[in-house]
Amino acid sequence: MANVGKELALISAGTQEKFNSMTIMFGAIGMIWSKNAYFAFIKPERYTFDFIQSNEYFTVSYFPKEFNKIHKVFGFKSGRDMDKIGATGITPEFIDNGITFQEANEIYICKKIYFKQMDKEFEPADVVAKYNDPKDIIFGESHYALIGEIEKHIVR
Ligand SMILES: Cc1cc2nc3c(=O)[nH]c(=O)nc-3n(C[C@H](O)[C@H](O)[C@H](O)COP(=O)(O)O)c2cc1C
Repeated sequence: MANVGKELALISAGTQEKFNSMTIMFGAIGMIWSKNAYFAFIKPERYTFDFIQSNEYFTVSYFPKEFNKIHKVFGFKSGRDMDKIGATGITPEFIDNGITFQEANEIYICKKIYFKQMDKEFEPADVVAKYNDPKDIIFGESHYALIGEIEKHIVR
């Protein structure tokens, strides 16, 4: 099982024609209503947010260590401004209802069951300062809590 919070992952959502991915770190794997679930936290400013909002499924993909450098692009650049897949050279792969990448070695395909904004007071100022762009601090809204039922867990 992925070491959530220690290893970086790409969260992806969208359709085969149009999708987006970004780096995440915070999260958890656990259980809710007797369902295995992936828990993540997504800021509404992210382009990926729009794809999670408008699609039923998302995936979380982990990569072998040699792919760590992709997060310099996926964690700092927006799909609104550039082709992150072209820049990193990873290869999209469509499995069931999810978009992942051929290079990923652990994948969670999740059906969205909850996606709601958390209270602003819940985000400590020092954390906001450390983990967000300066523009987020001024204009930022608090993260949304995302819970997805894990429909498929692939290790390869
Ligand atoms: C190490 C790391 C962890 C991150 N974790 C999260 C996260 O958990 N939630 C989030 O909303 N953004 C997180 N980000 C920020 C997004 O990955 C970043 O803003 C990205 O450029 C958004 O891309 P997009 O606009 O194409 O969606 C993280 C960035 C890094 C570098």
